[in-house]
This record gives sequence, structure tokens and C-alpha cells, in this order.
Amino acid sequence: MHDPKVFRSMHEARFHAEPAVFVAPGRVNLIGEHTDYAEGFVMPVAINFATLAGISPRTDGKIVIYSENYGEEKTFEAGQPIVAAKHWSDYPMGVVSILTGEGHKIPGFSLSLWGDVPLGSGLSSSAALEVVTALAVLSLIGASYPGPVLARLCQRVENEFVGANCGIMDQFISANGKENHALLLDCRDLSFRLAPIPANVALVIANTMVKHSIAGGDYPTRRRESEAACAIINGHRGGVPFLRDATLEDLEKWGSEMEPKSYLRAKHVITEDLRTVAASEALLRGDMKELGRLMAEAHTSYSKDFEGSCVEADLMVELANELPGLIGARLTGGGFGGCTINLVEQDKAQAFADELRKRYAAKTGIVPEIHICHASDGAHQLK
Ligand code: GLA
Repeated sequence: MHDPKVFRSMHEARFHAEPAVFVAPGRVNLIGEHTDYAEGFVMPVAINFATLAGISPRTDGKIVIYSENYGEEKTFEAGQPIVAAKHWSDYPMGVVSILTGEGHKIPGFSLSLWGDVPLGSGLSSSAALEVVTALAVLSLIGASYPGPVLARLCQRVENEFVGANCGIMDQFISANGKENHALLLDCRDLSFRLAPIPANVALVIANTMVKHSIAGGDYPTRRRESEAACAIINGHRGGVPFLRDATLEDLEKWGSEMEPKSYLRAKHVITEDLRTVAASEALLRGDMKELGRLMAEAHTSYSKDFEGSCVEADLMVELANELPGLIGARLTGGGFGGCTINLVEQDKAQAFADELRKRYAAKTGIVPEIHICHASDGAHQLK
């Protein structure tokens, strides 16, 4: 179904109009977790799991959205206020709401959606849905934004409409990713640098099958805990509005005034920023061994200091470490479940995936989904 031709005919059969078709990818993050909202660094990759959107204008003033994944159609009145309903349509309608708030007049349209980014697995299915809808709706009204601005608008859909307090990483990489490259993003000024992923390295994504949700309690709790530590440092020396501005020395100096949990969360974020920049430099000079070492360190920090992992993800990483061909493994994304990212030597990737699946299933009784992915382009129109 990823075939745009099939997708196009599905839209035509339902809505009797020819759609313009867009695609936006999901992502995997190589390193830099819970640093984006602290204005730090992240290094994600857009992957070959994506969401497609087909859009065509309507003359009856209605917005009709069909999700092929849910087999469900929803109708709204164009120009009417929109409220979130804890439903999949919140993501596309949140985009309409934010764009309307930006002064755009959005007329009626038909929108078909289909995606293969696994839901709730930490691969940013919702960011892909937001970014692809934004591109589609903007094209309908003859408007466009540069990729970084588009990402910010889609982040606002999460923050202001859906009510998920996330950073900008997922929307940014979905809008700006590049084939065969990882992207080091400075979440403060949204400047970025692309680093090629060597052709002999595979991205093996292993789904623990433990569902995660960033709207749930743990993500905002961790965020609050780390921000509390930041506030204490800022209270002492000023100029530290975000943990991006803090140092390990700050933490040692004033850590005793922090709740023990806050101290540990901040330790993760501060060290993770250092690791992420070092990892991008290692990747740029092709030093995969160093990149793998930093990923391993990042996982330990995420699991022990940030307490953002879970038994299953720790096990998936531990099992990966025993297998031939592994360069580096860690839990990726918002945490508390979802997927691990494994950088693996290409010629060993299939055997690695098969063996990891077998060993994880033997230990947990859960058969994990394991995918060998490649770095893909960010969102664009499909002709
Ligand atoms: C989720 C959020 C991102 C980021 C990561 C953790 O994916 O959407 O903004 O905070 O978690 O790194």
C-alpha cells in the first residue's frame, strides 16, 4: 500500500477527486534523549516508515478526513472552532487549528491518510502525521514554510492542541531528514549539520512491544524533575534558563540542594548533550567504534540516571551487546518502552535481527518486531 498509485486510487474512489499526495517519515534517534526541550542536541534519522496524505478541495465547506489505518472517516465544518477529542483526528485537525491561528483561512477539503509507522512504539507516528497533514493543507492554500518553521508549527500541535509536552526533535527530522544521513540538531537555534551514515552500516530497529505514550505521566514527570534541577542552578548563577546552559560543575556545586531524582535527571541531560555532540563528530569522521561506545554510555545514562527505560528495553540492549556485528545499541525515543536502535555491520544485519528476535522471544515470551531500516528523506510531495 506504500505504493502512491494505489493510495491515489483509494482517494479517488472515496472522494471522486484527484489528490495531491505527500509523504512524511517517522524517525529513530541515534543519540540525544530528553535534551530537545532543554534546548540541547539530538541526532535523529528519518526512516523508511512513513505516513502518506492525499488531499483534494471540496465545495461543500466540509473537512472530511479518512484514515485507512483506522478504517474511519470524520467530518468537520471548515472555519469552525476545533477542540481536541482524544481521537486520531486530533493530529490532522490540530494542524488545521494551528494554521488557522497563524492567520490562514482553511477551506473545505478531503484528506486520505495511511501510514506504516508502528503506533506507540517511539518512532514518531504522530509527528509524521502532523508534518504530512501540514504539507498537504499548505499546498491546498498555496502556502509554504521552510522546514524548520514547519517543524515548530507541528510541535505546537502537540503542545497546544493535543496536550503532549514534547520537544521539537520528531517534527524536525520528519520535515528535514535526508537520505543516508543522520542530522545533528541544535534545538536552541534549530541550526543543523548532516552526517553521512556509512553504506556498510544498517539501522536495526527492535520493538520491545511495550507501548509508550508521551502524553502519559512519565514523560512530563521526567521533564519536570530535570527542569527543577535547572531552576536551582539558575537561582545561583543565572544565565541557565535551560539545562543546555548548565555544566557538570554546576551540578556538583548545587546538587545537594536538589531532590535526588532531579539531580540524576539533570546529570543525564547534561552528559547526554556532551555525548551527542561527540557522537556527531565521531560519525563525521567515520569513527563507528567511538559512536557505538557513546551510544552504550547513553543507554546506561538513560536507564540508570534518567530512569527512562524498562526491563524489556534493557534486556533488548543487553542481548544486542552479545551479538556479532553490533556497533552500538540503545533505547530510542521518549522512553518507558518502544524500540531500541542498533547500528549493525550491514553484512551481519539479517543474522543479527534473526538472533535478537529469537533470544528476546525466548526470554520474554514476546515476539518482537525487528526491522532493518535505512535513512530516508524528510517530508515531500510525491509526483
Ligand atoms: C519524544 C518527544 C521528543 C523528545 C523525545 C526524547 O520523542 O516527542 O520531543 O523529547 O521523546 O528524547
